[in-house]
Amino acid sequence: MARAYLMGLDIGTSGTKALLIDERGEILASHTEEYPLAIPAPGWAEQDALHWWQASQVCIRSVLRSAAIDPAALKGISLSGQMHGLVPLDGAGEPLRPAILWCDQRTEAECADTVRAAGGLDGLLACTNNSMLTGYTGGKLLWMRKHEPDLFARMRIFLNPKDYILYRLTGEQSTEVSDASGTGFFDVRTRRWHDGLIAKLGLPRSIFPRCLESADVAGRVTTQVAAATGLPQGLPVVAGGGDAVIQTTGMGLVSPGIVGVVIGTSGVVAMGLDDFAPNPGGKLQVFCGNAPSLWHAMGVTLAAGGSYRWYRDTLCGQEVAQAAQQGRGVYDIMGEAAAASAPGAGQLIFLPYLQGERCPYPDPAARGAFVGLSLAHTKGDITRAVMEGISCSLKQVGDLLLGLLPRVTPKHIIASGGGAASPLWRQILADLYQLPVHTLAGNTEGGAYSAALLAGVGAGLYKDLGEAFSVLHTEHRVEPIPANAAVYQHVFTLYSGLYSQLQPAYAQIDRAARENPAPAIYK
Ligand code: XUL
Repeated sequence: MARAYLMGLDIGTSGTKALLIDERGEILASHTEEYPLAIPAPGWAEQDALHWWQASQVCIRSVLRSAAIDPAALKGISLSGQMHGLVPLDGAGEPLRPAILWCDQRTEAECADTVRAAGGLDGLLACTNNSMLTGYTGGKLLWMRKHEPDLFARMRIFLNPKDYILYRLTGEQSTEVSDASGTGFFDVRTRRWHDGLIAKLGLPRSIFPRCLESADVAGRVTTQVAAATGLPQGLPVVAGGGDAVIQTTGMGLVSPGIVGVVIGTSGVVAMGLDDFAPNPGGKLQVFCGNAPSLWHAMGVTLAAGGSYRWYRDTLCGQEVAQAAQQGRGVYDIMGEAAAASAPGAGQLIFLPYLQGERCPYPDPAARGAFVGLSLAHTKGDITRAVMEGISCSLKQVGDLLLGLLPRVTPKHIIASGGGAASPLWRQILADLYQLPVHTLAGNTEGGAYSAALLAGVGAGLYKDLGEAFSVLHTEHRVEPIPANAAVYQHVFTLYSGLYSQLQPAYAQIDRAARENPAPAIYK
């Protein structure tokens, strides 16, 4: 049989990645383009949607060039992307303002308005099965209506980040069920927009895009895009999925029992569900999965890899310079120093709430902290404490997730995302959870790999997700070290007590930040 190829595109927060695989799941080429994140005010986070589109084109051209395949053998492309971002478009399909991202925390008041309009949290859960988190797209729509009414009036449709790229590739404006779940206005049980809630909030129904299932072909590559990128004209573009959902799908996690941990910019702990599950108290995010019979439960800590990257950029200049000089990866150098420190990092605890927090503490005012620093601590201790603090947050989310499914005994963890590339980080996770940690080949590539597999389902190369998963195989397996259980239990107990002790200080700091002059609103 002639070889067939698939492409996955992941519109991430730190960059966009394109990945080209063959039908057996082998990676032929990968390319990432980074772009900036704007923080126009504390707790706000925005990006220019045009940067995603420029990066996407560069990435697509680059992987096609380096794999040197016959473009006619490319069977489909699909997308993964940062969820919840608001990309408001005018009648000509132009973004009206920079996109407001998933990690933006400005919408506390609008989230409260939504809960009130739904008749309280239980009323909202009955509509959508989810609480309205500050990161969700819904609050951002209401914020724009309140603070930027002229721009809001010009909005003809809104899209999530990957859907904007799908629109640029195909000219079609649509979303799919996993990203729609993350708007907060989607009935996850019936897999449709909740028209009643939208009407109660007085939002125009016409700005909500048509919603597909993830493996549906949403459109085809246009002539103009084909000329600009080298993609074949008419190539099927499969709807894809929100990154936090599609990454778990691409790990083969479609039924409970195996815990998926994704250490990307955010940290996601997730399980695949083979049926709809209620979300008591709205503590977790229970979304539609990437096939009509799949759902997905997860909790998200907002700054996982994001905290580690911040730490690299602000405090590890020396390691960055050393890496450049020696032609090595900076994370390898940082990881070596951390591995020289002992489990527990000399009682140094790091709290990763650098962008506020979502789960287990839905608190936009939360902030990061190092607690327990002393003159005895080394750089390696500090680096290890950052990894351990992020891992503790992931464990708290995992405990909540397992509480949702009390009859399920976890067998092992599958880890993915950039952080899972670190052997030390995988060992810390295994020791904290006291569960084996596996990684799958391709999974450190994040959502782009899953998107490529989904492209294969949508384009008919695989009969279903089950057949697509036959290409997955374990790459690394780490066993928990029983002797480390006690020290990590101690670290986890200390960590878990700190948020409530620091919360009053966080509230005070947040109040002071709000008293600073308000940042410019876009006109
Ligand atoms: C999921 C979430 C994050 C972003 C990051 O709910 O907010 O995982 O999708 O890319």
